[in-house]
Amino acid sequence: MGSKENTENVVMELGRDLIHELFPRERQLIPNLSDVYELELAFYENLILSDEELIKNAAYFSQIRGEYTNHFLMCTGEPLKLPEFSSSRLKSFFEKNIFRTGYATHGLFPYRGKFHPQMVKGLMNVMGLKPGDTVLDPMMGSGTVLVEASLMGIRSMGIDASPFCRFMTQTKLDALSMSLVRAKGALTNYEDVFAYFQKRVGEPNSVKKISSNPTSKNSMFIMEETQEYTAMKDRRELTKGERETLDTYNLLLLSYLDSVGYAERSTRKTPLDQFRHILERYLFVTEKIQIVLAGLGVELAPAKVLEGDAKMLLLKDNSIEGIIFSPPYSFAIDYLANDSFHLNFMGVDSAALRERMIGLRGRNLLEKYQFYREDMSKVLSECARVLKPGRFCTIVIGTNNNQLGKVLGVSPDEVKGLHEVLIDMSVTCGFKPIKMMSRPITGISNTMRREYILILQKKIH
Ligand SMILES: C[S@@+](CC[C@H](N)C(=O)[O-])C[C@H]1O[C@@H](n2cnc3c(N)ncnc32)[C@H](O)[C@@H]1O
Repeated sequence: MGSKENTENVVMELGRDLIHELFPRERQLIPNLSDVYELELAFYENLILSDEELIKNAAYFSQIRGEYTNHFLMCTGEPLKLPEFSSSRLKSFFEKNIFRTGYATHGLFPYRGKFHPQMVKGLMNVMGLKPGDTVLDPMMGSGTVLVEASLMGIRSMGIDASPFCRFMTQTKLDALSMSLVRAKGALTNYEDVFAYFQKRVGEPNSVKKISSNPTSKNSMFIMEETQEYTAMKDRRELTKGERETLDTYNLLLLSYLDSVGYAERSTRKTPLDQFRHILERYLFVTEKIQIVLAGLGVELAPAKVLEGDAKMLLLKDNSIEGIIFSPPYSFAIDYLANDSFHLNFMGVDSAALRERMIGLRGRNLLEKYQFYREDMSKVLSECARVLKPGRFCTIVIGTNNNQLGKVLGVSPDEVKGLHEVLIDMSVTCGFKPIKMMSRPITGISNTMRREYILILQKKIH
């Protein structure tokens, strides 16, 4: 071939558009998809879902045959409101991530190691989960899987060893549908609300001053009225008025706890101002999603939130249609130290809880790593037991090779990554690895740069 034809050929090939080669024109992608794993998930959603399913539940499409998808509408209702004093770096992070993390009640409380909600939505689609199925997250943390499943019409169950996670998840779920009248009233009165919590819960930077009462199971619900409800009744038995009081109380309390954490990290504003801004933001995002859900006629699926141990699931064999979770990345984050203020205030006996927490058990890092492997093998075997045969379990795990290398006394390159360790264990437990994708970790203060998405199938025989 002559050089002229050669260059013409190059020009012709470069004129082709990768996205249009991969996706039909009538299915338009969400703007700003830039990571390879996102394109992969979009690619599988495109293969697996019908037009109607894409409109209702797709994570990576904005329009199907000219009709906006629910995800697009949930995210764009209005841009996310951040406190005025947020740094420009934080603002641009959230603006870029509106389709990924900045929607529904996912932004309430900045829990370390939180899932990426849009990815969870995409994964549930790729795992073949449909409305009416049940998905389990045995280490739910802040409840991203449950909130997302609820929006998609998928039933869910979440478990965490930490009572604070149970509270946070339940509050984020309730915020999707609670009445906001009283919480808005509280905003006009925010000084009094702040003073109330300051007195009952404790002040920022004063963890040591707060008294702990490990015997009081209900110390979370200190407001006299709410304490009565929770002590006496199952949540489902509450009257509409009682429910409204409890929901309002919990949303205000979560905002207060959020502002305490913020005040400990930053001194740019007084704690009182931080509380007002955080409460304003909570009300803003909550109202926004409620308006969109009402407009779309979305019926939220039920979600069960439990405190428990992923090593001993109180569930029947072969009873669940899908599992998604992200375990602690070995001993990388001390969840109890991070949440010490909230746990202390809740009257939790941290020493006893530490013994149940995966990644925290052990006297030194080497022992912690050994216990971690032991514990994770139990978790995987429980997941294999409760999952229906042929169904999928997805694990998201980062790898702390640098830390592990030091502990094991070898170079980081020689360390077997946690994702590989978990794959080996999962095979022993009766899973077949189907797919592995990797994604960059974009969180502002993360030291790990990459995590892995492992899709495992429970063997049929
Ligand atoms: C990486 S975080 C999960 C974050 C979650 N995916 C989210 O979106 O917020 C891991 C969670 O495992 C929980 N955990 C640790 N040990 C546990 C156990 N034995 N049983 C259940 N949960 C446990 C921790 O409390 C923590 O919330």
